Amino acid sequence: MPRLKDIYEFSVRSGIAFPTAESYGGLSGFYDWGRWGSLIKNRVKNFWLNYFVRSKDFIVQLDGSIITHPSVWKASGHADSFVDPVTVCESCGAVYRADHLIEDVLDRSAEGLSLEEMKEVIKNIRCPRCGGKLKDPEPFNLMFTTIIGPYSGMKGYLRPETAQLIFVDFPRLYMQNRKRVPFGVAQTGKAFRNEISPRNFLFRLREFEQMEIEFFFDPENPSRPPVDHSDIEVKILTASDQMEGRKEETKRVGDVVGDYPGREWMVYWIGESLKFFESIGIDMERIRVRQQLPEERAHYSMDTWDIEFFFDDLGWKEIEGIAHRSDYDLSRHKEFSGDNSYVVKSDEREFIPWVVEPSWGVERTIMALLYSSYRSGEREYLSLKPWIAPIDVVVLPLLSKEPLTTKAVEVTHHLVQYFWVEYDDKGSIGKRYRRYDQIGVPYAVTVDHTTLEDGTVTVRERDSMEQERVRLNDLVEYLWERVKFKWSYQKLY
Ligand code: GLY
Repeated sequence: MPRLKDIYEFSVRSGIAFPTAESYGGLSGFYDWGRWGSLIKNRVKNFWLNYFVRSKDFIVQLDGSIITHPSVWKASGHADSFVDPVTVCESCGAVYRADHLIEDVLDRSAEGLSLEEMKEVIKNIRCPRCGGKLKDPEPFNLMFTTIIGPYSGMKGYLRPETAQLIFVDFPRLYMQNRKRVPFGVAQTGKAFRNEISPRNFLFRLREFEQMEIEFFFDPENPSRPPVDHSDIEVKILTASDQMEGRKEETKRVGDVVGDYPGREWMVYWIGESLKFFESIGIDMERIRVRQQLPEERAHYSMDTWDIEFFFDDLGWKEIEGIAHRSDYDLSRHKEFSGDNSYVVKSDEREFIPWVVEPSWGVERTIMALLYSSYRSGEREYLSLKPWIAPIDVVVLPLLSKEPLTTKAVEVTHHLVQYFWVEYDDKGSIGKRYRRYDQIGVPYAVTVDHTTLEDGTVTVRERDSMEQERVRLNDLVEYLWERVKFKWSYQKLY
């Protein structure tokens, strides 16, 4: 099984992701996506949009701004509450996230410790770098700040979550959804957090991407989801399991979610999330669903379930959080802006919709994909699902010689109408197979002398390395059947 070091080295070497500005020594918490990684990232985001927006009649999309009115972050609570504890060494100036330091040095959990409690623990720890005394921990706000416009003095923030744009735009989104609840709004995009100690490659970044859905419903009449996922069985760890020292066990999703307004939608979103992860090729043996402890929950949440992936050397880590945000955000925007249109009317009743929010980290999802699909040994390759692979197919002339090259370019021209395709004639055929296996391309089409005689090509499948002769006339259909995901449609209205 791969370790973080293997995944990091593979990613840097093969063009997935690497540190930004390497000539200047890189910058902690920032990575650039290479030739193949940027394609994989787009595939994951596009698949997500197709899965949740195209395939459901009750989810629409928003592309909100990265910098918005600063009052949004006051109302959302991020200006006051989006903080982590920081401690600084009095001798060498090293800066540490206090809870992580406690966990690393004392090998114990720091979850839920108050600042005061951390202060007491930190007194017994010395700076790991120089052995110096550490200052008392204090809260550090994770939002990046900027100044909006010249000489304005108007302090702006880079959004720390995409979600808030959906909340603040709710009145328009609701109108444009023909004033119907339940409905959801999906958004993918960058978010920024000035992490105290970015670490673990793509896992804790300062600039990253989210895929989020805010799902709005009437708490008194939440409606039935289009599919009931109560019977899905998965490894589950509830808050009480953790408090009573039990380990995760396989249980039904419907048996663990609490009895609060919108529980059926919490069950639905946990189920949909598991199906999404399975569809993109995450190793489901390494998945568990864990309820956050009350002290772990974000300031807006009344219940949160994390979908966690087991990274061999990092342990269980969250790759998606599903938070019940009740009416917290919409009520706050109503209160802070004075705008009454966050209140909706249904059956002559007025109410502020409640929200369940599934929120994915794109980079964490890709980390889980890399751990799930990386194969090494005699051959190094990514066993990615075709719809997540960076491209669909590569066309290779057996030799870099005429008339094979002209014929192979002709085949490429034809395929590019239907697929994301590359043409490559550099190096031996064996080397070229390895090159495209390495970054997970599922099919290679080889043009050889027989192609010129009978109009057939060989199609080689990446994982099995098996080759099949296919008539050029059938090639599009042959590949289409294998590289396109089979969509289904969910109708609520
Ligand atoms: N919107 C939830 C989060 O950023 O964690």
